Amino acid sequence: MSVHIGAEKGAIADTVLLPGDPLRAKYIAQQFLSDTVCYNEVRGMFGYTGLYNGKRISVQGSGMGQASLSIYINELITEYNVKNIIRVGSCGSFHSHIPVRDIIIAMSASSDSAMNRERFQGNSYAPTADFTLFRTMIDRAEEMNISYHAGNILATDTFYQDNPEGWRKWAEYGVLGVEMESAALYTLAAKFGARALTVCTVSDNLSTGESTTSEERENSFTEMMKLALETAIKLPDS
Ligand code: HPA
Repeated sequence: MSVHIGAEKGAIADTVLLPGDPLRAKYIAQQFLSDTVCYNEVRGMFGYTGLYNGKRISVQGSGMGQASLSIYINELITEYNVKNIIRVGSCGSFHSHIPVRDIIIAMSASSDSAMNRERFQGNSYAPTADFTLFRTMIDRAEEMNISYHAGNILATDTFYQDNPEGWRKWAEYGVLGVEMESAALYTLAAKFGARALTVCTVSDNLSTGESTTSEERENSFTEMMKLALETAIKLPDS
């Protein structure tokens, strides 16, 4: 047991898929894994371990935002020895050429959060995806004929921004879109020597105003999940 995860040691697999929404974690476990065991219900932040193509995989909700995610990442890595974390999320796109339902694979994560300013005493750290995970996912996407965008994303601390046009500066510098978790994910994985990668489906487009229906979100989510799971089973054993 750790402070926020009620699992026995050994109950969580080396590779964890990490949606923000705990009910997504439940759905993934039910739809894609076999021999599934629920190892965590603390705070309703469900976590499950099961088999995908014979390989042990866990799926754990992180909650929304870097503050919540950081708690789970700390405990997954330092208390449960998790080696690979693939965040499966949604994001807003900044560009008209990246419409809703497209997939973004985050090579790096910019942020408006004070977390790393504090940690690095005012200096600017560049949170970066793990290269092995990234390359494995890109290879799988190409084998599976899944199209994707790869690049920098913004991890914001504020979903409802005071300045509704503030995203345009990030877009100008090539940032692809916005979510709320990946800078902390990449930073903590680097700190503790684990691998991390974020893949997102685009749920809304800040440039065009387009957004997805729940049915469209479901379908694009399924494609992303298959990509994440097929990546997970190709990773080298630890
Ligand atoms: N902002 C922040 N996070 C998000 C968004 C957004 O517009 N869309 C999906 N996740």
